[in-house]
Amino acid sequence: MIIKPDITTPEHIRQMVDTFYDKVRVDPLLGGIFNGVIGDRWPAHLAKMYRFWGTVLIHEGSYTGAPFRPHATMPLEQKHFDRWLSLFHGTVDELFAGPVADLAHMNAVRMAEMFISRINLIRDEPEKFIQ
Ligand code: HEM
Ligand code: HEM
Repeated sequence: MIIKPDITTPEHIRQMVDTFYDKVRVDPLLGGIFNGVIGDRWPAHLAKMYRFWGTVLIHEGSYTGAPFRPHATMPLEQKHFDRWLSLFHGTVDELFAGPVADLAHMNAVRMAEMFISRINLIRDEPEKFIQ
């Protein structure tokens, strides 16, 4: 039996992020959206996501900023978040197990819920969000 590690090191964070975005990039529903926005900036995006998840999960990372902002104008619906979450949960479960892995699952779900509710709010009441 192979015992999976928990997420505890920067190397684990990189492995999680790389494996997840390898799936995202070729996903029929999500690949085009990501590649369309990110274009040739994948190395910078991956580096940012190491910092984001490192900050959230192992307190090693220097992510600062407003995670929601770039998503506000993307054409995203519940089905996109369902797919995002299923790829993310699959990635975490295939590589890791333990309390920090549980935290990764939980944070992803909360973030996705927050994003979709804000996107719907902007769609319903756009006049409140003109910048
Ligand atoms: C109700 C749910 C949430 C709300 C309303 C919220 C709101 C925000 C806002 C407004 C900012 C940016 C502040 C700025 O403009 O500089 C922020 C930053 C951030 N959020 Fe959240 N957030 C939520 C949930 C989460 C969750 C679940 C996570 C973990 C995955 C998370 C991780 C972060 C991180 C890492 C930052 C950057 C912190 C920094 O700049 O130092 N947030 N959040
Ligand atoms: C289907 C759903 C999603 C799509 C299509 C999506 C797509 C993207 C894209 C294309 C970017 C890069 C924006 C740019 O650099 O121009 C981005 C940034 C980011 N995404 Fe997502 N995302 C999704 C869901 C999520 C979720 C659920 C989370 C949190 C767990 C998340 C966290 C982030 C963070 C932290 C950034 C960096 C924001 C910054 O610039 O500081 N995304 N996303």
